[in-house]
Amino acid sequence: MDTKIIKVNSEMFEDSEIEEACEILKKNGLVAFPTETVYGLGGDAMHKEASAKIYAAKGRPSDNPLIVHISDRESLKDIAKEVPQKAVKLMDAFWPGPMTLIFKKTDKVPYSTTGGLDTVAVRMPSHPVARELISQSGVYIAAPSANTSGRPSPTKAEHVIEDLSGKIDMIIDGGSVGIGLESTIVDVSEEVPVILRPGYITKSMLEDIVGEVKVDPAIVGETPKKNIVAKAPGMKYRHYAPKGDMTIVEGSREDVASKINELAKQKIDEGCKVAIIATDETKEEYKYGIVKSIGSRKTEGSIAAGLYDILRDMDHIGAQYIYAESFSDDRLGGAIMNRMIKAAGHHLIHV
Ligand code: TXA
Ligand code: MG
Repeated sequence: MDTKIIKVNSEMFEDSEIEEACEILKKNGLVAFPTETVYGLGGDAMHKEASAKIYAAKGRPSDNPLIVHISDRESLKDIAKEVPQKAVKLMDAFWPGPMTLIFKKTDKVPYSTTGGLDTVAVRMPSHPVARELISQSGVYIAAPSANTSGRPSPTKAEHVIEDLSGKIDMIIDGGSVGIGLESTIVDVSEEVPVILRPGYITKSMLEDIVGEVKVDPAIVGETPKKNIVAKAPGMKYRHYAPKGDMTIVEGSREDVASKINELAKQKIDEGCKVAIIATDETKEEYKYGIVKSIGSRKTEGSIAAGLYDILRDMDHIGAQYIYAESFSDDRLGGAIMNRMIKAAGHHLIHV
């Protein structure tokens, strides 16, 4: 299949520029598009033909449900069986934006979209291209991240092209996304809201609005928790992973640098290709391997925005061994570490 790539200026574009994309969606085709979090791979959420194509293009297991993207709250009546009061408060505070809510689903939503579950994930994105695509097509857009299953999520059109070119109808290139991590997922189908995936909207931001919020115990911490099944099916899969063997080193700045230098030298002496994931503040401290800065420690946002790009870079470099610094667990750092630990297959060293 030929994948058509169109460029749009996300800040300023005409309706006509995305007309063809809307036509594709209406005919159950697939269009990748930018959102404020990561690029999504969109298809009609209410038609199982489209969701079947999404699973095939991504190589994704079909028990892993999709998020339905809407552009106005009216649409919820077709999708959510009930909208609890706490959900209304959260929507008032964070929609449109990087928060996905889990509701009990209506009969109209096909099980192919929800991976067989009686609940459905819904998000109202704030990105102008995403919003216009939904409203102009009149399609509720099912959209997982537009990457091959298991690879880092795409934060630029180039990443989507790398993974999905030839497999989908169109890619809308709207430049780099702003946030760079997927939306926070909150289950509001029970009395106390539960975070199923950490993201830009943090636990304390949610608690400011609705009081007590729980975190799904299956959310990946340092060690994988056995016998606990993640409520978001996608959280159980190995994710975001570069091809090389990745290790995160945690400890004081000096200890981390000397441990990474030691490990890197060892592997280089064995003839292996080594890369280091450092930050603007620390990159000078590494003596071996290819050193890449992920962003500045002064702005967590730059680290989040650079994470997936650098993980993909590791593959372009052909890194066989990757050593990464770690980040503090508070605020956005929690969401960053959640992705990094998964990328490293839980391989963490304390020094
Ligand atoms: O920021 C985002 O959310 C991006 C952009 C494109 O909007 N989308 C995204 O979709 O990250 P995806 O498919 O890569 O991740 C969706 C996650 C998966 O972990 C899935 O298991 C979970 O949401 N999920 C979807 N529906 C669910 C449901 N009914 N109950 C629990 N988890 C659900
Ligand atoms: Mg994904």
